[in-house]
Amino acid sequence: MLRYVTTNPGKVREAERYLPDGSVERLDFDYAEVQADELGPIAARGAREAYRHADAPVLVDDAGLFVEGLDGFPGPYSSYVEETLGIERVHDIAADLDDRRAAFRCVLGYCDGEGFAASPDPVDRGDRDAAAAAGPDEEGEGGGSDGDAGAADPLPVKLFEGYVPGRIVAPRGDGGFGYDPIFEHDGETFAEMDTDRKNAVSHRGRALEKFAEWYADR
Ligand code: IMP
Repeated sequence: MLRYVTTNPGKVREAERYLPDGSVERLDFDYAEVQADELGPIAARGAREAYRHADAPVLVDDAGLFVEGLDGFPGPYSSYVEETLGIERVHDIAADLDDRRAAFRCVLGYCDGEGFAASPDPVDRGDRDAAAAAGPDEEGEGGGSDGDAGAADPLPVKLFEGYVPGRIVAPRGDGGFGYDPIFEHDGETFAEMDTDRKNAVSHRGRALEKFAEWYADR
């Protein structure tokens, strides 16, 4: 049984759409979110901590809104910015920009304590490149996602990234959560879409799709 580590039951329902019946359940565990300017290392650390806690296969996710004209801000700080500034002020800041393009990104981190075959998946490679560039830290985040030699932390984590492009607009719509009202994709904000439509295009859905394809062979 796979544990999706989240306080949000909606995320588990979304994951159930991509995975075999009865193969995933929610694990309500609050792992420490490290500060990093990339989602990958945050998801990787979370997956390791959650695996050690659960002693069973775990999936964690980290997501954020990346505004092009703000060099990716708020990105990995999206939760903090939503709580402090609020989405209307994020819109107000973006309203002054010439370039209001933005994207939601989601990185899923999977850990089951076993190693993985090296993979050509670009997220996996990017994680290794970023880790190599950053160098190993005290907890060994430099190990990459397939258990490279040299990792101080031997627990391998496999990462899957999903992405959806859009742009920042004045708030519209009553549905969804978080930044949904100010994120427009294909003429509709995420808050104007019904759940099925949003899930079909969302960053989390794209990441889950990649994960489910890989997990089916595992
Ligand atoms: P988390 O990683 O799911 O906790 O999300 C981090 C931040 O991004 C929070 O502020 C969320 O509200 C926001 N966020 C993540 N996914 C979405 C989404 O699908 N729609 C709107 N906001 C999102």
